[in-house]
Amino acid sequence: MDRLIPPIPLTIDVDSRKVRLGERLYHDTRLSHDNTISCATCHDLKKGGTDQIKTPKGINGNMGPIRSPTTFNSGFFFSQFWDGRAKDLIEQAAGPVHNPKEMGSDWLEVIPKLSKDPYYMQAFSDIYSDAIKAGNITDAISEFEKSLITPNSRFDMFLRGNALALSADEKEDYRLFKEYGCISCHHG
Ligand code: HEC
Ligand code: HEC
Repeated sequence: MDRLIPPIPLTIDVDSRKVRLGERLYHDTRLSHDNTISCATCHDLKKGGTDQIKTPKGINGNMGPIRSPTTFNSGFFFSQFWDGRAKDLIEQAAGPVHNPKEMGSDWLEVIPKLSKDPYYMQAFSDIYSDAIKAGNITDAISEFEKSLITPNSRFDMFLRGNALALSADEKEDYRLFKEYGCISCHHG
């Protein structure tokens, strides 16, 4: 068995109430200044967790400088953003809300908007003792993201010891991936 890259676990423990709340927030355009952009605009779960365009479109048609990475399996990343500037998903989720080229908003603007929605009033007070606040919003979103896993791909089967799960070409390519050192940064 190859131990350099751990296979994606078949299941993970998540808090299902937070996942449901986080899913709503992830798709909610009210997290942006002009109510046009949600996390899903750039990290579309039907498009592999990205927007599949070269430069993402934020509010007012602003273009970001770098492609949107996928949110699938993002709970396993050892840091977030290409330069690792956020330590985990909770810290990461505050970034886009404030980024002028992404959602261009801030918590003082977002929280009153969400507080008008009876669904959120109920869901936040059911789960958190201190209702709708920034740390709870990012906590729920990150719990939802943790649930976005893609277990048991052919590569995972290969990593678990099924040598037939990959073709001869793919195995050779994986060897090169390790030999060239790609694996030093891309290690699962
Ligand atoms: C306008 C497009 C856009 C929006 C809206 C957006 N993102 Fe992103 N996201 C990006 C881009 C671009 C990056 C990479 C930026 C970087 O690494 O500097 C990124 C990075 C990330 C990462 C880090 C993944 C990695 O590989 O390091 C996560 C997780 C993420 N976004 C989640 C979210 C969440 C949650 C929201 C909503 C609160 C959101 N994004 C809103 C474009 C967007
Ligand atoms: C020194 C660290 C490092 C090494 C070594 C490295 N990468 Fe990367 N790679 C990154 C970072 C950081 C990004 C994201 C930033 C970006 O997209 O510009 C990235 C992005 C990518 C992407 C785009 C992923 C996406 O979702 O758009 C691919 C594919 C990729 N690398 C493959 C490789 C391959 C193949 C090798 C070996 C030949 C390799 N990388 C070596 C750090 C590295």
